[in-house]
Amino acid sequence: MDLFSYNPDNTTDDAPDDVPDSGEEQKGAGTDVQKRIAELREAISYHNRRYHDQDDPEISDAEFDKLFNELVKLEEDHPELVTDDSPTQQVGAVPKAAGRKVVKHQQAMLSLGNGFEHSDIEDFATRICRFLGLDTMPELVAEYKIDGLSCSIRYEDGALVQAVTRGNGQEGEDITENVKTLPDIPFVLKGKNIPKVVDVRGEIYMTREEFEALNDRQAEKGGKVFANPRNAAAGSIRQLDSKIAAERPLRFFAYTLGYTDAKFESHTDQVAALKDWGFTIVPDVKTFSSLEPLFDWYEKLSKTRFDLPFAIDGIVYKVNSTALQERLGFVARAPRWAIAHKFPAEQASTVLLDIEVQVGRTGVVTPVARLDPVYVGGVTVSNATLHNEDYIAERDIRICDKVFVERAGDVIPKVVGTAPNGRKEGAEPYKFPKQCPACKSELVRLEGEAAHRCLNHFECPAQIEASILHFVGRTQFDIDGLGEKMVQMLLEKEFIKSAADIFTLAQKRDELIELEGYGEKSIDALLQAIDESKIVSYPRFLAALGIPMVGNQVASLLGNRWPKFDDFMHVAQSEEGQETIQNIDGIGPRIAENVCDFFKNARNQAQLKAFLDAGVRVADFEVPTMEKETIFTGKTVVLTGTLPTLSRDEAKHRLQKMGAKVSSSISAKTDYLIAGDKAGSKLKKAESLGVEVLSEEDLLSAE
Ligand code: IVH
Repeated sequence: MDLFSYNPDNTTDDAPDDVPDSGEEQKGAGTDVQKRIAELREAISYHNRRYHDQDDPEISDAEFDKLFNELVKLEEDHPELVTDDSPTQQVGAVPKAAGRKVVKHQQAMLSLGNGFEHSDIEDFATRICRFLGLDTMPELVAEYKIDGLSCSIRYEDGALVQAVTRGNGQEGEDITENVKTLPDIPFVLKGKNIPKVVDVRGEIYMTREEFEALNDRQAEKGGKVFANPRNAAAGSIRQLDSKIAAERPLRFFAYTLGYTDAKFESHTDQVAALKDWGFTIVPDVKTFSSLEPLFDWYEKLSKTRFDLPFAIDGIVYKVNSTALQERLGFVARAPRWAIAHKFPAEQASTVLLDIEVQVGRTGVVTPVARLDPVYVGGVTVSNATLHNEDYIAERDIRICDKVFVERAGDVIPKVVGTAPNGRKEGAEPYKFPKQCPACKSELVRLEGEAAHRCLNHFECPAQIEASILHFVGRTQFDIDGLGEKMVQMLLEKEFIKSAADIFTLAQKRDELIELEGYGEKSIDALLQAIDESKIVSYPRFLAALGIPMVGNQVASLLGNRWPKFDDFMHVAQSEEGQETIQNIDGIGPRIAENVCDFFKNARNQAQLKAFLDAGVRVADFEVPTMEKETIFTGKTVVLTGTLPTLSRDEAKHRLQKMGAKVSSSISAKTDYLIAGDKAGSKLKKAESLGVEVLSEEDLLSAE
C-alpha cells in the first residue's frame, strides 16, 4: 500500500520525500538506523504541521501513531541518537503566527503517552508503583478522552482574560475572541474559592449530530466539508473571523487546571471545583483502585462509546492524588502520572480502487467504494458507502484517490473524504452512471431526493434478487439454507423468478439434487425448511413483502387492528383504505399510502395469489390481551356524532380492545354513550334513560 507517498501541492510546507511504510524491513544498524530516524522525524514533523497547523491531516491518527511509535522504539534502542529537536521530545506543532498572537503558557501543556493493549496499562501501573515505592496501585481516575482540541483559558479574579491553543506545548495561539463565543465557557466564574489566577484546561469539541448538520450546511453552500468532528472543531476555532466561529456549534469540556495559585488535593477535587465555577465537566468520571474493574470499564466503553453524543478516542487514566502527581513528574513530552488507553481508530486512509453502483430492493441506487483493504474500527474493510451523487461531488472524491474511511461502531463504513495530496495526476471527477447497471433502464432522480432510482421494479434483476434476499431474511421468512449464494444460483439457473417460486421448488427436486456442490441431503433439508416456513406469522409476512417503510413493527400495529390478514388486505384495497389505516396510532399518511399502493397494484396482487396457490398461509395475529382493567371493561357502549380525532371505526376498535361491547342502539342496558359533534336523537335518548354520556377524551384517557 502506498500510504506515505506525498505529492505536495502548492502549500508552503515542504513535504518530505517518500517515507516507506514502517513495516518495511530495516537493514543493518548504524547509518541505516540514522537514516530511518531522520526520515521518520521529517515525516512526523510534516504531519504534525498538517494536523496542528492546517487542521487538514493527510494520514489517519493510527498511521501517525505507527510512525511515531517506530521513532520512539528506535530512539529507545539508540539513546545516543536522541536530539532535543526530535518530535518525541516535543508536543504538537510550532504555532502558526500569521494573523494571531503567540502566547507562552505559564505552565506547559503536555501531551499524553498512550497504549492500546491491557499490558501497556499494566506496565504503566508497574512503573508508577516502582517509582513511588508502593506495593499497591494508587487510586486512578478514568476519564473520557475527548476527541477535540485542547485549550487553556486564563481567569484573573474570576474573569476570563485569555484563551490559547496548545500549540507546541510551550506556546500557543491566542484564540480569546473565538473562545468567548462558546456557550459553555463562562466569562465570569461563579461558586466558592475562586483563585486569583487560574488556567482552566479542557477540550473544545463538536457533537456528532451538530458536526453532521454543519457539514450539510457547508455542502449546501459549497464550503469545506470536514472529515470528522475534531477537524471541524479545530478548523472552526482557528477561524480569524470570530463571527464565523460563533456560527459553528463548538462546545467545551473542562478537565484539568494549568497554572494556578490555588491548591487541590486531588484531580477529583479540581474537577469538582471546575463544576462549581460553572464549567461543563467530562461526564462519567470514575475512580479505580485496581486494574481489573478498570479494564472492564474500558471493554464496556469500547462498545458503547458510539452511543455517546460526542467522539471519544480512549480513556485517560490519571493518578488522583496531586501530591503523588508532583512526585511522579514528567518525562519529555508527557506526565508520568497519566496515560491514554486508546480505542482502535475509527478512521484510516486507503486507496479508492473503484466506484460501483448497487441497486437495492426498492430501486435506490447507492454508489459503493471498492477499497484497498484497510484495518479500521477493529475490522478489515474493503467496501464502504459513498451515499449518493451529491455526497461524492461535495467531497470531490475521484477513483484512485487516497481516501479516509470511517467505521464507527456497527455503522456501515463510509468514505469521508479525499486525503490532501492524495490525488493521482489525471484523475477525473466522478460521473454518476445514467443507466441501471443491472437492467440498463434509465436512472431517475426524483424531485427533492438525493438518491437515483431504477424504476423498473418488476423486471430489474438486481431488484428482484434484493427483494428475494429480503424475503428470506432473518426477520422475515428466515429459511435455513437460503443464503445469498443459493438465491443467486437459483435465479441464475432460473429455478425461481420471484419469491413465490420458492414454495414450488419441491416440484423441481430431481433437477436440484443434480446441481453440483449440493446433493440430496442438503436439498431435502432446504425443501423441508421451505415447507415448514409456509405457515408464517402475520408481521413476518407483511415485512417480507418489502413495502417501503413497513417492517415488523408497523406490521404488528396493523395486526393489532385487523388480526385476520384477509380483513386487513380488504381494507388496504378498499376506497377508504388509506384514511382508515392512517388513523392508527403510529402509522402516518406515507406508510398508509405505501401500503394501499402495494395492495392495489395488479402485479402485487398476482404475487399474493401465487403465494396462496403455493400453500403459504398467514397465521392470525395474536392480539396481546389487555391486562389493565378500564371503565369500559365488560360494558356496553354506544357511539354517536363526529368525534374530534378518531374515526368511528377506530373508536370502536379501541373500545373493543378495552373489553367493551360496542352496540349501535341505545337501550336501558347501555352503560355509556360516547358523543361527538352533531349528536342527535341518541344523545336525547341516553339522557332520558339516565345513561352516562362521555367524550372522546374520556375514551382516550381510559386506555
Ligand atoms: S489530561 C498532562 N484529560 O488528549 C495531561 N487530556 O493526547 C493533560 N484530552 O492534549 C491532558 N481528553 O487534548 C486530559 N480527559 C482528558 C482528555 C485529554 C482529551 C486530550 C488533550 C491532550 C491530549 C493528549
